[in-house]
Amino acid sequence: MTKYAVVTGATSGIGKAFAEKLAKEKYNLILVSRDESKLLNQQTMISKEYDVVVYTIAIDLTERGAAKRVYTEVTQRRLVVEILINNAGFNECGTFLETDIEKEVAMIQLHSICTTELMKFFLPSMVEKKYGRIINLGSTGSYMACPNDAVYAATKAYILQMSKGINAELKGTGVVVTTLCPGSTKTAFASKAGMESTLLFTLFVMEPETVADIGYRAMLKGRTSIIVGLYNKLLVFTSKITPSTILNSLTQKMLTKS
Ligand SMILES: NC(=O)c1ccc[n+]([C@@H]2O[C@H](COP(=O)([O-])OP(=O)(O)OC[C@H]3O[C@@H](n4cnc5c(N)ncnc54)[C@H](OP(=O)(O)O)[C@@H]3O)[C@@H](O)[C@H]2O)c1
Repeated sequence: MTKYAVVTGATSGIGKAFAEKLAKEKYNLILVSRDESKLLNQQTMISKEYDVVVYTIAIDLTERGAAKRVYTEVTQRRLVVEILINNAGFNECGTFLETDIEKEVAMIQLHSICTTELMKFFLPSMVEKKYGRIINLGSTGSYMACPNDAVYAATKAYILQMSKGINAELKGTGVVVTTLCPGSTKTAFASKAGMESTLLFTLFVMEPETVADIGYRAMLKGRTSIIVGLYNKLLVFTSKITPSTILNSLTQKMLTKS
């Protein structure tokens, strides 16, 4: 039976790198993002280059009911999904007094609610088939409070905790949920959030292809979570042993726009 991988946020950055990595590994793809023309270009390019079947779903995943629409479209086509990459995301960076609440609510909807709903819809058939892999995109921010990026980091902490809990419930089923936690990565993410000038995005920025490669290997190994790269591992370790007043002040400095 032909197996599919769903990748959300597939038109750019880490999601785009995941789509190409999975195609190289001969997975057929269902690519999900808002920009239809980018999706169609990607469909043409990937199916030609890697000789796999590519479907696209153009949808705004911040809209209520979007996850259900994705699932319905996939089941109507009778596609069997073996891998789900919950990657679509964005940031609304700044102090809580200055950030835009509508963007923050959309971010909570996309990172927390849509990710939860997509797992709720796709997990049962994976369990039934005794095999499945889900990657949920966390961040180094999953592990610490982030002044100047408080809501974003909280959505990523939610993803990590939810994924770890569900992954423990799934023990022995053949299905694994991996939380992939990158640090700053060279994608359109920082410029969309006006964060390119922050210290965070000037130090140790990784390539999206490296992040996707590490995520893919961790997923196959059945890892519960992975922090990407030595620098980010050290950052998270240090955050656990640093007093919170010092940590807050350092994190705030790293996330200040100049
Ligand atoms: N870059 C970093 O430094 C970094 C670090 C840690 C974690 N992450 C996480 O990694 C993930 C991918 O980020 P990236 O760096 O690759 O960013 P990116 O280059 O900006 O790509 C984001 C992707 O998400 C899609 N997307 C955004 N809003 C969407 C919506 N409402 N509905 C459907 N799709 C939507 C975008 O496509 P359309 O605009 O076409 O919809 C795009 O394909 C995110 O979850 C992010 O939080 C990134």
